[in-house]
Amino acid sequence: MAGRAQLTKVVAPDQLSGVINIPGDKSISHRALILNSLAVGVGSISNFSPAKDCMSTIRCLKLLGVKVVKQPNKIPTVAVYGRGDSCLLEPADVLNAGNSATTMRLLSGVLAAQPFLSVITGDASLRSRPMGRVIHPLRLMGAEISGRRGDTCAPLVIRGCKNLRGIEYQLEVPSAQVKSAILLAGLFAQGDTVIEQPHPSRDHTERLLEFMGAKIRYDRKFVCVQPLSSPLKAIDIKVPGDISSAAYWLVAGTIHPNAKIKINGCGINPLRSGIVDALREMGAIIKYENEHTEGNEPVADLIVESRRLRGIELGGEIIPRLIDEIPVIAVAACVAEGTTIIREASELRTKESDRIATTVRELSRLGANIEELPDGMIIRGGSILRGTGVNSHYDHRLAMALAVAGLVAKGETLIRNASASEISYPGFWQTLEEVSIFQGTERRI
Ligand code: S3P
Repeated sequence: MAGRAQLTKVVAPDQLSGVINIPGDKSISHRALILNSLAVGVGSISNFSPAKDCMSTIRCLKLLGVKVVKQPNKIPTVAVYGRGDSCLLEPADVLNAGNSATTMRLLSGVLAAQPFLSVITGDASLRSRPMGRVIHPLRLMGAEISGRRGDTCAPLVIRGCKNLRGIEYQLEVPSAQVKSAILLAGLFAQGDTVIEQPHPSRDHTERLLEFMGAKIRYDRKFVCVQPLSSPLKAIDIKVPGDISSAAYWLVAGTIHPNAKIKINGCGINPLRSGIVDALREMGAIIKYENEHTEGNEPVADLIVESRRLRGIELGGEIIPRLIDEIPVIAVAACVAEGTTIIREASELRTKESDRIATTVRELSRLGANIEELPDGMIIRGGSILRGTGVNSHYDHRLAMALAVAGLVAKGETLIRNASASEISYPGFWQTLEEVSIFQGTERRI
C-alpha cells in the first residue's frame, strides 16, 4: 500500500471475496467502559473496539482514577475496575476526548454528577462541534457547566454537584449522545428523569443499563430512568461487531460486479441497521444467518453479494438509524440507477466534518452527479466513477466511503489523509487488501 499517512491508492479489484471479522461496536464499547467505571467490581469487555475514539475514553477515565487494563487475549479485551463504591477522582489535568464526541458528551453527563471541577477538550474538529445541546439540559439538572463561544463549544468547564435533579426533557435533535448524557446524570439525580425524543436514536445506553439492573423504561418516544438506589454491578460483556464498520463491506459487496462477502458477528440493533433497510430497498440482497443475542443486543452474520441498485428517497425516522452511513450510502447511490434524495439529515453538518459538503465535494471529483441540499443531497445515479485525487478531510467515515468508491472506479483513486479511518476502524485497509482479488500478480492496492 502506498504511503498510507499521506496518499492511499485504491484500484478496482477483479473480485471482492472473503469472510470478514469487523471491530467491536464503538458506541457500545464507550458505554460499556463508562458504565463499568461507575459500577462496583471488575467488568471485562471482550471484542472491545480498537477505535482511537475508544482509546480517548480510556485515557479520560484513567485521569478520573479508573483502572483499565488491556488483557492479553486474542480477542481485544479490557478489564475495568469500577469505582462504584466511591466517586471518580478530580482530574489533575484537562481531559482530552480527541476526535470523539461520544466521549465528550457522555462524560459530560457523568461529570455533572461528580463533586469536583473538570475541564474537557478535544481536537480542532471536536472543538467546533455543538455542545450547547448537552450544556443546556445538564444545567437544568443543577450542574455548573460552561463552554467557549457563548456556551456552545468545547473546551467545557464542569463543576459537578451531588444534588442534581431529575428533569423532563424534550430533545430537539434525535441524538443518542445527548440522550445518554442526560441518562447518565439522571442515575445520580433526585427524582426520575424522562426524555422525549423526536425520532428514536440508538438505544445502547438503555439496553446496557437494563442489563446491569438499573430501573429504566424505554420505547421509541420516551425514556425514563430512576436514580440508582445502590451502585450498578460491573458486568462482563462481549461487544457485537460494529454495523457502521460493516457498512463499507455491505456497500462494496453490493456495488462491485463480482463480489460475495460474509461479515461475522455483526450487531443488528434495529436502531442501527437502517443501512441494511436502505440497501435492501435499493435492491441489495443481504442475508442474516446465525441470529442470536449478546449482552442484550441482537447479532448475526451478514452475507452480501453483487446486485444492481436503484435510487431511493431517505428522510424522517430512518435518518438517525443510518446517520453515520450516509457517506457510503451516497457512494451506492452514485452507481445506482435513478435518483436518490436524502433529506432531513442536516445533523450531518455537525459531524467530524460537514459531511454534506465534504461528501458532495469529494464524490463530485470522482465524477458523481451529486448536489448539496441544506439538509441532505440529491444524487443522480448511473455515473461511471473515475479515480482521481480525493481528500478525507480527516473524517474517518469519508476516508472509508471514498475507498469503497475506489473499489468500483476506473483507474486509481488516491485518498489523502486516509489513515483518519483509525478513528473507528483501525484494520480497515488490511481487510480491504484481504478481500480484493486481482487476476494478475501485480499488487495494486
Ligand atoms: C453516537 C451517536 C450518533 C452518531 C455517533 C455515535 C453514539 O451521534 O453519529 O457516531 O455513540 O451515541 P449523535 O448522538 O450526535 O446523533
